[in-house]
Amino acid sequence: MKHDVKSLTLAPHGKKRIEWADQFMPVLKIIRERFEKEKPFRGARITACLHVTTETANLMRTLKAGGAQVMLVPSNPLSTQDDTAAALVKDYGISVLAKFGENRQLYYKHLNAGLDQKPHITMDDGADLVSLLHSKRKNLSSLVWGSTEETTTGVIRLKALAAQGKLLFPVVAVNDAKTKHFFDNRYGTGQSTMDGIIRATNVLLAGKTVVIAGYGWCGRGAAMRADGLGAKVVVTEVDHIKAIEAAMDGFDVMPMSEAAKIGDIFITLTGDIHVLRPEHFRKMKDGAIVCNSGHFDVEIDLKGLKKISRGVKEVRDFVTQYTLRGGRRINVLAEGRLVNLAAAEGHPASVMDMSFANQALAAEYIVKRHKKLDNEVYSVPQNIDEKIAALKLSSMGVTIDRLTAEQKKYLSAWEMGT
Ligand code: ADE
Repeated sequence: MKHDVKSLTLAPHGKKRIEWADQFMPVLKIIRERFEKEKPFRGARITACLHVTTETANLMRTLKAGGAQVMLVPSNPLSTQDDTAAALVKDYGISVLAKFGENRQLYYKHLNAGLDQKPHITMDDGADLVSLLHSKRKNLSSLVWGSTEETTTGVIRLKALAAQGKLLFPVVAVNDAKTKHFFDNRYGTGQSTMDGIIRATNVLLAGKTVVIAGYGWCGRGAAMRADGLGAKVVVTEVDHIKAIEAAMDGFDVMPMSEAAKIGDIFITLTGDIHVLRPEHFRKMKDGAIVCNSGHFDVEIDLKGLKKISRGVKEVRDFVTQYTLRGGRRINVLAEGRLVNLAAAEGHPASVMDMSFANQALAAEYIVKRHKKLDNEVYSVPQNIDEKIAALKLSSMGVTIDRLTAEQKKYLSAWEMGT
């Protein structure tokens, strides 16, 4: 079995952590048990390009239980948990090519090796595999039945590809499922981002001014949790409607040129490039902490920061300090990559349970339906989304009301008014 992991001696630690996460993934477990019996992926090869975490490990186990030949490659050079990768290879017989801290060259070597198995289904978190299948590895694209995409940034890239009429196989946008982005993006990112900042710096958030760039689902989550920890929250936005929402949620809203002067901690979650750039760094307070929780490491202009700095040094794990010419210091966390996955463990398993239940069921949907699908970006079918919600609620021991016959009739009628 092909593998490239840091060390297989890390496997026992990884196995324990995978089992721990599994306790909080009851929906995925139900799916795994069904897959074990039905083997929906018998004969299928799946290459997954996802963050190599304990939660992803449980998704990989689920796909394997369904009969797939699975390969896992990283979706970010700084998110791999080496012990998890080792346990997947040693204890679960799953092929993994991923090492924490790998450089760009090794990253693409791993992705290409993942494609060498000629997958029928690919899973992406950020669309790097699909991008390769539309460029250097285009010759393999005709073998692909379909792909799934985990994240907002990836869905944006794929929709751009589809809009140009260039998408070569169908894609299911897992991110667009309600049971994904309402929870993973908001509560998952909210908690794991604070976790990453705290683990990297041990800074006290109470009383600090935290600037949140971007008020999408991830930004909303981060703002909510920073607020809950006692920070003063400032939001920056480019979208009028989201800016109103942030203001009505009780946060100060202003341009980054203003926020830069007052922030203690800056978190980018926009999905866009150079949200923080030299014009902002120059205004920041001495000791400002800057980090990113958006998918790619493009949101903070680190090259621009380096250019205006007289020195750069590591001052703590995951903290790089840039000293500007005037002497002010800016602390960048996790090299501007996803702080929640690099400095912490990513989203907790309870929330990844729903995200990865969507991944598993979307892959099954592709197996069953790919011949009827066009080369478009599809949403997760509503019945799958609802089923996952019902299973999650039940696992939480929560029951809800049902519509009475009278209420159902009322909701489908137009006659009854004032
Ligand atoms: N994305 C965010 N958190 C994650 C996690 N724990 N596992 C996999 N992907 C993630």
